[in-house]
Amino acid sequence: MSTAIVTGATGITGTAVVGALTNSPDFTEVYTLSRSQKSTPHPKVKHATLDLQTSADEMSQSLSHIPPVTHIFFCAYLADPDEAEAARINGSMLSNFLEALIKSGQTKELRRIILTCGLKQFGVHLGQPKNPMREDDDPSLFWLEQEDRPPNFYYTQQRILEKAAKDAGNKWTWTVTYPQDVIGFAKANFMNLATSIGLYAAVSKELEGSKLIFPGNKINYLAFNCWTSAKIHAEFCLWASNSSNAANQRFIVINGDTQSWQDLWPRLAARFGCTVPEHMFPSDDGSGKEAYPGFESNSMKLHPRPPVSEVDAKLGLKGEFKQSEVNCQIDLQKWAKRPDVVKAWERLRDRYGLDQTAWDSATWDFLSFLLGRNYSNVASMSKARKMGWHGYADTWDEFQRTFKELEEAKMLPPVADLKGSHS
Ligand SMILES: NC(=O)c1ccc[n+]([C@@H]2O[C@H](COP(=O)([O-])OP(=O)(O)OC[C@H]3O[C@@H](n4cnc5c(N)ncnc54)[C@H](OP(=O)(O)O)[C@@H]3O)[C@@H](O)[C@H]2O)c1
Repeated sequence: MSTAIVTGATGITGTAVVGALTNSPDFTEVYTLSRSQKSTPHPKVKHATLDLQTSADEMSQSLSHIPPVTHIFFCAYLADPDEAEAARINGSMLSNFLEALIKSGQTKELRRIILTCGLKQFGVHLGQPKNPMREDDDPSLFWLEQEDRPPNFYYTQQRILEKAAKDAGNKWTWTVTYPQDVIGFAKANFMNLATSIGLYAAVSKELEGSKLIFPGNKINYLAFNCWTSAKIHAEFCLWASNSSNAANQRFIVINGDTQSWQDLWPRLAARFGCTVPEHMFPSDDGSGKEAYPGFESNSMKLHPRPPVSEVDAKLGLKGEFKQSEVNCQIDLQKWAKRPDVVKAWERLRDRYGLDQTAWDSATWDFLSFLLGRNYSNVASMSKARKMGWHGYADTWDEFQRTFKELEEAKMLPPVADLKGSHS
């Protein structure tokens, strides 16, 4: 029998990990931790509030009620726009927590720690990666630590974890996961794709004409991407926690299909009762920088050298990769403040008793990035599959399942009613 501690248990990846653990007959007790009390009650779950930014001594006192556990799932995350600060904060949250666990004795029976990182490992936030991304990629792509690269908190966390295992005499092992753009349920978290896109679609339906305009650019609309369902990621973490093959290994974790907005967007429009404009990019001049008539656009340059440029000569494409950009024909931050948009949201909120915090904490900047970047992001699941992982999720099914959960939590309006309404 196994027992677990989950940090970040109320976040998008953590909530799903807790769900998978409570469904698993192998796990008898699950100790969940976060600063807030948002965790869903379950007979197997004992939630405690803990601030991972406090000292190891303070934490060990707060943890003293928890017996030794067999598994730890580290899903806590604190965002900071300054990459160096993000590395310092997220690194010390992990190292202080590990020190606290040793002090208070929870590591005595420990078998595995599973750390959730992400495809930023490959610099997908800095520009065009080499596609598909693979765990056996050239080290210059897998650890982007060239002089002009910003710090990456995943690198800091992984080094802390590896050292802790070594210091413990390798009595326990670790697994690191790299999900991409997670589709899942959480309240007021840092990167919430499904909530933000669902709100955009529901409000678009409520606006005059009910058109679902793609806020990003045509290059992105036609590009290929992969996504990670929080549910499939959680199931993967469970598989990894007990697979000897996964000991001291790093894995890309994606749904297993390759997808694109050209496929998802019309389905999204149909689900929310909207129409797709016949000319989605009416001002397109190929630059990706055009504005949709009547809206303000925005544009941002990423790192001067996209990650793929590290291997340009090896690919036979020396000097050919340009700086990547994020271009949105609709600036979502400004869109969300437009009086007609705010009124449409308020009408939906009042009609269906929706939670105002869903709107207030929608991550428009994150959504803009996902819709506005001008390159594909595809990763390979070959390593995990060769080692025995056979999980798979259909990306559109996962969006639909998550929208339903968000409806039930009153964060999105009920789609059945929306479709029946006329604007
Ligand atoms: N979301 C995505 O689309 C995505 C994509 C790829 C990779 N990832 C990676 O996945 C990992 C987990 O992120 P996530 O998106 O699941 O995060 P999230 O949804 O924003 O949740 C963060 C969790 O950490 C907890 N937390 C934050 N600060 C804390 C503190 N000082 N003490 C204790 N708990 C704290 C939060 O709870 P409280 O606020 O209640 O404390 C919450 O449970 C990160 O490395 C992230 O980069 C995420």
